[in-house]
Amino acid sequence: MKTELILALDVPEADRALELIGKLKGLPITYKVGSELFLASGPELVKRLAGQGEKIFLDLKFHDIPNTVAKAAKQASNMGVQMFTAHLAGGKTMFQAIAKEFAMSMGDSHSKALPMVLGVSVLTSFDETGWKEVVHGAAKNTFPIKETVSNWVSLARDWGVGGVVCSAHELSSIRGKFPELFLVVPGIRPKGIAAQDQARVMTPAEAHAEGANAIVVGRPVLDSTDPRKTVEEILNDLRNP
Ligand code: C5P
Repeated sequence: MKTELILALDVPEADRALELIGKLKGLPITYKVGSELFLASGPELVKRLAGQGEKIFLDLKFHDIPNTVAKAAKQASNMGVQMFTAHLAGGKTMFQAIAKEFAMSMGDSHSKALPMVLGVSVLTSFDETGWKEVVHGAAKNTFPIKETVSNWVSLARDWGVGGVVCSAHELSSIRGKFPELFLVVPGIRPKGIAAQDQARVMTPAEAHAEGANAIVVGRPVLDSTDPRKTVEEILNDLRNP
């Protein structure tokens, strides 16, 4: 199985992103555009990169009423992105609305290939105390994060979700239970690089061995004095673990 590299373009302006992409020309990379860069540069940057043939992962984590998210998904699709994220907490009707919107756009001869919808389960920034506080309040019977993630991912399979974003904590158990889902794993650190604020990290080779379809790497490349060399090392690690 192949594991793809997604580079998180966590930079505050379009020029910084374009400079980095210029240094990485020709390497097999999908670029992740999150809220920071999207708000700084607007959809123009995404359209421009997609128009140049770059693969784009639009990570805006949609979560709203079904109609609103379906229309946002259509805009993402029109921009030519490969994949985008939406919160599984949006539920079945939200994902069905996206699927319906995409089914309608298939009839449109101008439409490009449809993007993959990636579900986001419990944010990895939650600990059990914070999770209980927002979800269960004073209730006695509670569902720990791990069970919630497994339950949501299992539901998501039937909602037209192509894959999920999962942490290194969850990768092997989700891969074991859901062999057909595309698993995208952040929190990746090449050997010898500090974890920074990531609670549990994996090397690219470990993520590959545990069945990640794609890894997300940000700061190890963004902070590198030679980003191209760092990316080549990561790609090498994924190909020859
Ligand atoms: O710099 P670093 O490699 O830690 O960046 C990881 C990227 O993955 C960031 O864009 C971050 O927002 C994202 N991410 C994450 N953990 C998650 C989901 C997304 O680190 N659970």
